[in-house]
Amino acid sequence: MCGIIGYIGKREALPILLEGLKRLEYRGYDSAGVCVSAQGLTTVRSPGKIKNLEEKLAGRSLSASVGIGHTRWATHGPPVEKNTHPHADCHGRLSLVHNGIIENYSELRRKLESQGHVFSSDTDTETLAHLIEQLLSDGASDLPSAVRAALKQVRGTYGLAVISQDYPDVIVVARLGSPIVLGIGDGESFVASDASAILGHTRRVVFLDDGEMATLTGDGYQVRSLDDSPIQKTPEEVDWSDEQAQKNGQPHFMLKEMLEQPDVVRNSLRGRLDLGDGLAVLGGLRDVADRLRQIDRLIIVACGSAYYAGLVGEYMIEANAGVPVEVELGSEFRYRKPIITPQTAVLAISQSGETADTLAALREAKMKGALTLGIVNAVGSTIARETDAGVYNHAGPEVGVASTKAFVSQLTVLALLTLFLGRQRQMSVTYGNKLAQELLHLPDMIQKILDQRQNIELLAKRWAGASDMLYLGRNYLAPIAFEGALKLKEVSYIHAEGYAAGEMKHGPIALIDPGFPCLVMCPEDSLYEKTKSNIQELKARGGPIIALTTEDNQEVSQFADDVIFMSKTIEMLQPILSVIPLQLFAYYVAVSKGFDPDKPRNLAKSVTVE
Ligand code: G6P
Repeated sequence: MCGIIGYIGKREALPILLEGLKRLEYRGYDSAGVCVSAQGLTTVRSPGKIKNLEEKLAGRSLSASVGIGHTRWATHGPPVEKNTHPHADCHGRLSLVHNGIIENYSELRRKLESQGHVFSSDTDTETLAHLIEQLLSDGASDLPSAVRAALKQVRGTYGLAVISQDYPDVIVVARLGSPIVLGIGDGESFVASDASAILGHTRRVVFLDDGEMATLTGDGYQVRSLDDSPIQKTPEEVDWSDEQAQKNGQPHFMLKEMLEQPDVVRNSLRGRLDLGDGLAVLGGLRDVADRLRQIDRLIIVACGSAYYAGLVGEYMIEANAGVPVEVELGSEFRYRKPIITPQTAVLAISQSGETADTLAALREAKMKGALTLGIVNAVGSTIARETDAGVYNHAGPEVGVASTKAFVSQLTVLALLTLFLGRQRQMSVTYGNKLAQELLHLPDMIQKILDQRQNIELLAKRWAGASDMLYLGRNYLAPIAFEGALKLKEVSYIHAEGYAAGEMKHGPIALIDPGFPCLVMCPEDSLYEKTKSNIQELKARGGPIIALTTEDNQEVSQFADDVIFMSKTIEMLQPILSVIPLQLFAYYVAVSKGFDPDKPRNLAKSVTVE
C-alpha cells in the first residue's frame, strides 16, 4: 500500500526521503519515487524496489533541503515509471504525492485536457497536479489556496503532499480518509503517511484529522480546515518504538486494526452512496451494470473469514435484492462441477486477492463463461486483475493474521452490492435511502462498541479458562457465530464452534454442561423470541451464557451470566456491529492467556498454496 514521506529544513533531503521510504516498505509497494527542490524540481522514479530507485540516483548530485517521496501500490494504471509518484503538472513546476483515490478523476481530467493540459500517466493522482496548476494560473493567491480550491472539486480520499518551485519554502499537505502525520523537528519539519517513517528524526508529531490541511516550513507548521479556518493542534510526544509506530501505539496489529474499523467502514462507503436516489455508486461495476441486471444467480467463492462474509452476503442479497445466491468454499468449488450459465455471476471475496483456492475457483468460473466479480482489499492483486469487474474495500493494509477490519469492510461492501443489485430490481427508492442512511450511522455505532472494550476485556478474562465454547446466532447472525468461533480458535486456541441457533438442539446441545459457555447473539430483531428460547434450553442444561443484545434490552440480563450491548440497526446491517465484540473478546482471551494474537501458530496471512 502507498506511503508518503516529505522533508523541509536545512539538511540534505534525499537521504532522509530514502530512509523514510525504506521504513514504509513493510506496507508493500510496487514502485517508488522522489522529487527534490533546489533550483527547480528534480524527479526520479523507478518501478520495483527502492534499491532500483537508489541505483538510478547513484552518481547524481541532488543537493536540496526540500523534497517528497512515495511508495506506490498500483491502483489506476500498471506499476511502470510514468505512473509512479511524484506526479507533476504540465511544466514540471509543481510535484505531488498522494495516497487514496480521486473518484471523479476522469471528469476532471477531461475538463483539464480540454483546457490544454497534457497528461503523462494513467493515474488519478496526476489530475490533482494539473488542477492545482490550473487554479494557480486562474489567479489563486498562493500554493495553499490553490491546493484548497482543488480539493474542494475532488471526490474521494487523500493523504497529500505538494511542493512547487515557485513556493520553495513550503510543503502543503492535506488529509481526507488517508493518514497524514507531521513531524516537528528543530529547524526542520517532516510529513509522512505513517509515523514510523519519521520517528528516527523527531518524536514530536501532529496527527492531521480528516478535512485538515497544513503548511509546513523549516520553522514549523500551520493547520487550517478546508474552509480556511485556523485549527490549533499541539504536537504530542510519542515514545513508540518503530514496531509500535507501525501499530499506532497499540500493543498488537490486531487491536490497532479493530480500532480502525469506524474509519474502515467510512472509507469503504466514501463516495459510494447517492442519498437522493437511494443508490450505491460503484464505479468498478459501471461497465458490467447491464449484465448484472440480467443475472439470475450469484455464486460467491471465498475462504476463511471471507467465506463467512460471503454467507452474510447471501442473506443480505437474497432477502433484499431478490437474486438467488450460493456461497462456496474456494477449495470445494474448484473440484465440483458447478452449473454456470451465461446469467451466472461469480463473486470472489478476498482480502489479499491472492488466496490460491479462491483464485482457482475464479479461474474455473471464468473458463466456464461466468461474469467474474471481486471484492478485494489488496489493490492490483491477482484476483483484482483477473476479475471482469469489482469493488475495492479501501480497508488499508491488514497485518493481523486473523482478519478483523477486512471482514467488516467485506460486509460493508456486500451491503453496498445488495443496494446496487436491489435498486436494479424491486428495491424501492425509499428503502434504498433508508439503507444508505443506516450505513452512514454504522461508524459511530462501531465506535460505541469499541469504547466498551475494557468491559469486554474483563469478561474475556473471566471466560479465558474455558476449554470449549459455542457461538450461536440466527439469520444474518448465523455466519457471525461461525466467524466469532473462528476468531477465538485462531488466536486463543480454545476449541469453539459456531452454529445457527436453531440447529443447536440437533447435536451440540449434547455437549452443554456448566463448564461449556455459549456466546449467544440475541438482538431484538424478528427472531428475538426464538433465540431467547434457545438460551432457555441452554440454561436448562446448566450452560453459562454470554449474551450480545441491543441496548435498552433489560430482559436478557435476567437469564445471561454476562451481557454485551450494541446499538440497534436494521436487521441486514446488524452483523456488521455484532462481529465487533466477538473480535474483541477473542483478542482479549488470547492476550490474557499470554498468546500473541498477531502471530497465531500454524496460520498464514495469505495462503497461496492449495
Ligand atoms: C487465511 C487468513 C484468514 C483469511 C483467509 C482468506 O486463512 O488467515 O484470515 O480470512 O486466509 O484470505 P483472503 O486474503 O482470501 O481474504
